[in-house]
Amino acid sequence: MCGIVGYIGQLDAKEVLLKGLEKLEYRGYDSAGIAVRNADGIHVFKEKGRIADLRQVVDSSVVASTGIGHTRWATHGVPNYVNAHPHQSTSARFTIVHNGVIENYHLLQEEYLPHVEMQSDTDTEVIVQLVEHFSNEGMATEEAFRHTLSLLEGSYAIGLLDTQTDDTIFVAKKNSPLLVGVGAEFNVIASDAMAMLSVTDQFIELHDKEIVIAKADSIQIKKLDGTKVERAPYTAELDLSDIEKGTYPHYMLKEMDEQPAVVRRITQQYEDAAGNVTISEDIATAIKEADRLYIIAAGTSYHAGLIGKQYFEKIAKIPVEVHISSEFGYNMPLLSKNPLFVFISQSGETADSRQVLVKIKEMGYKALTITNVPGSTLSREANYTLPLYAGPEIAVASTKAYVAQITVLAITAYAVAEATDFDLKKELSIAANAIQTVIDHKEEFQALTEQFLATTRNAFFIGRGMDYFVSMEGALKLKEISYIQAEGFAGGELKHGTIALIEDGTPVIALATQKDVALNIRGNVKEVVARGANPCIISMEGMEEAGDAFTIPHVYPLLAPLASVVTVQLISYYAALYRGCDVDKPRNLAKSVTVE
Ligand code: F6R
Repeated sequence: MCGIVGYIGQLDAKEVLLKGLEKLEYRGYDSAGIAVRNADGIHVFKEKGRIADLRQVVDSSVVASTGIGHTRWATHGVPNYVNAHPHQSTSARFTIVHNGVIENYHLLQEEYLPHVEMQSDTDTEVIVQLVEHFSNEGMATEEAFRHTLSLLEGSYAIGLLDTQTDDTIFVAKKNSPLLVGVGAEFNVIASDAMAMLSVTDQFIELHDKEIVIAKADSIQIKKLDGTKVERAPYTAELDLSDIEKGTYPHYMLKEMDEQPAVVRRITQQYEDAAGNVTISEDIATAIKEADRLYIIAAGTSYHAGLIGKQYFEKIAKIPVEVHISSEFGYNMPLLSKNPLFVFISQSGETADSRQVLVKIKEMGYKALTITNVPGSTLSREANYTLPLYAGPEIAVASTKAYVAQITVLAITAYAVAEATDFDLKKELSIAANAIQTVIDHKEEFQALTEQFLATTRNAFFIGRGMDYFVSMEGALKLKEISYIQAEGFAGGELKHGTIALIEDGTPVIALATQKDVALNIRGNVKEVVARGANPCIISMEGMEEAGDAFTIPHVYPLLAPLASVVTVQLISYYAALYRGCDVDKPRNLAKSVTVE
């Protein structure tokens, strides 16, 4: 989703900002812009499309060492030049970049800015016009900024330049991620540490409703009422090589390839001194004390939650409900007496999940966040965090984070179980090898995809039990990156309506990794084949049959999703390639969905 960068120091700000924005490209965006300030004033360059397009319109003769930049994922107003950030006030004194959504912008516009002619359709422009309005009324810039912020309802991360305040970036944050990076004789701001890792690894977290007055040699953090806040920087433990694509054509392929290593790394990270997989005592106690777990997540993380429910119920005998975060907050079910909320989120920034976290905390309940980004909003605001250790996931389509989520969920359920009849560490090691085997056969999936999906307009994924949940994830992966309409179904449910969609050649990808239902799913495949479907059966060793498209090595049945999901990830990846889609940056999507 939208990304912000800012730089104030001695270097050519244009280049630092553009490079920073390139590092944020993975978040998804449809336009981009920068504004730099020098003695001549503020120079704004923006463009619809990619950073590469923006580079074409940036005037290289402008020299400036202060600036702000933005990638925009359209919410209010279509993606075009006018709506792209930065936005300026009418007199062009103030220039702003903003992430988030201002819910009351129409009301503020009516109340304070009835005579101001707006240039764009964005909520953001209202913020910069309000700052100008209050400064015209006599307030100093900082005061006008703070007063404006106090009126905003919704979420914001903001960088603001003022032609009349030398070498300063005014910064603010509420419910949208933003960090301040600290350097020697320079400072930066960024939505994500990754964007500025090439210039510093020292970052200061900002809390909601704080502002920052950033200069090249100082950082002042204040609350909205003006009280000063002291906060030391932390070292961002990110390795730049983790976020480089290397020789891979796409991040998605690199991240799929990393999956066996991710499972092994997680197993090591969660090992105790005796070599057993476990979790910290306080988290284990919180889970054991709960009478029910409520897993809250969105998209792929929700699909991981569906598998997690099986683990907690089958391994640990703890009842679980799994909910889509955007629904839960507004349609809360009757809760048990002593619930524990488990938020699953790769980014830790998903606004839909955060609105639930805020509500359940107000109700006095405790939360555990399972995330790839410790220090993210959902991690900071929950009582407990379990990290995924998957390394940065850059491709918009989540792959290794899903595998990591399932692995951590399995370890957590195992750690709180009173008794278990299998060795999870050993089984995870076998599963990691099985994932490797699938990856080593990727050419077969390329060929399969050409045969099944190169030209189709729709596709179905079916499965039963654990395979059903992976089918849902397979369908999501395929549709988000290849734009083929796809659905994941419980095999037995198809005949209750959806089978009407099966026609000659409709691809049906069936997963058969669960012994107790393997014959049933094969029966469902026969039903669709009888109506013309083109079947592609992915089975597991021990239950394979002649004609299966691929057989994954045998793994412990509950862990089968770790290997079977890789087959549907590869199918989706190659389908997107055949169709010439932008695999890592699918249209309309954002990596970190920071608006509700
Ligand atoms: C799909 C995908 C999304 C995310 C969803 C939640 O590939 O990545 O469906 O899973 O937006 O994001 P997180 O996990 O960051 O909360």
